[in-house]
Amino acid sequence: MSISRLTIESFRNLSSAQLSPGDGLNLIYGANGSGKTSVLEAIYFLGMGRSFRSHITQRVIQREADQLTLFAQLQQEHPAQGSKVGFRKHRNGDTDVKIDGSRVKRLSVLAETLPIQVITPESFSLLFEGPQSRRQFIDWGTFHADANFYPAWVNVRRIMKQRNQLLRDGASYQQIQYWDNELVRYAEPVTEARKRYVDSLNERLKGIIEEFLPQVQLKISFTRGWDSKTDLNQLLEQQYLRDLGMGHTVSGPHKADLRLRVANLPAQDALSRGQLKLLVCALRIAQGRLLRQQTGKNSIYLVDDLPSELDAQHRQLLLKQLTDTGAQIFVTAIEPAAIVDCLHIAPSRVFHVEQGLVTQIEHTMRE
Ligand SMILES: Nc1ncnc2c1ncn2[C@@H]1O[C@H](COP(=O)(O)OP(=O)(O)OP(=O)(O)O)[C@@H](O)[C@H]1O
Ligand SMILES: [Mg+2]
Repeated sequence: MSISRLTIESFRNLSSAQLSPGDGLNLIYGANGSGKTSVLEAIYFLGMGRSFRSHITQRVIQREADQLTLFAQLQQEHPAQGSKVGFRKHRNGDTDVKIDGSRVKRLSVLAETLPIQVITPESFSLLFEGPQSRRQFIDWGTFHADANFYPAWVNVRRIMKQRNQLLRDGASYQQIQYWDNELVRYAEPVTEARKRYVDSLNERLKGIIEEFLPQVQLKISFTRGWDSKTDLNQLLEQQYLRDLGMGHTVSGPHKADLRLRVANLPAQDALSRGQLKLLVCALRIAQGRLLRQQTGKNSIYLVDDLPSELDAQHRQLLLKQLTDTGAQIFVTAIEPAAIVDCLHIAPSRVFHVEQGLVTQIEHTMRE
């Protein structure tokens, strides 16, 4: 899947931009504050219905504008998949999403239509921050890999909300027991699907890690969110008083995580910043490759400020791995040479951004 036409209106400092990206690598360059990240953010918005920079979506609407509008014309692997995606968000929160002219209520449909992998200088949070970003990473892949996952996951979320509300209301265990039985029912398919996904991902990851981080002995394991030797129903009963005191459920599938260890240390303590960036890239590339193998779909890669933290050799390696996926890629850089000099093929398209204006430029590779 790739974007062949993209229109962005009133999105951050981009008043009105039209791009005709190429199938391969699209390079977006420009000075600080010109709007490069905003272009990637707009594409991400189309696929995910939210930003990767701000939790407050209203902030992405251009100052003084009432609404933002995004549109993408897609080239899909299967003709049955949507080919026109439109997104409009009003300052009052109203959102209008259309695929091929039909209104879409669930944002998950967007994710299915436009699978997106994003790598930003802040992607380190995948490794550093609490388990939420790692869990989102697992769930992104599991969502695409297993059609039964999403409905079960929606139920887990719903039940967990109910259970936590009851805990905050000081409910007795008898009142909560019904929800525990329900939770256990959906926790199993969610956990099994996640486990299967992480196993397949591990297989895919090995070769990429060997190239990116040849000396690194990386160990990745999935943790389900509660002690695997304990029956979840029993555990919820045992931990009822504790949960009541805390006002939320301490253990369960909502606490699933991915453990990344190098030489028996957490990866973030054992690797340099450049190596961590490569690890995050390896995880994303493995995920994209697996998606393609499992569903035939290509993800779109958004790589913000690709050159930062990486030496020329590793930039080269990363760009090669990315272009070898066969996916459409958008990379940003301040100086185009930082990318072009490390590419073994010419970029499909080059765009220059200046004060919110995006211009496609003719580009010839240096000899
Ligand atoms: N809601 C908004 N309305 C108008 N302008 C905005 C809004 N939000 C952010 N901006 C401005 O958009 C500009 C572009 O930001 P962006 O992060 O896309 O730049 P960039 O090219 O990625 O810069 P850098 O190289 O520093 O990463 C910034 O100057 C920012 O102040
Ligand atoms: Mg930026």
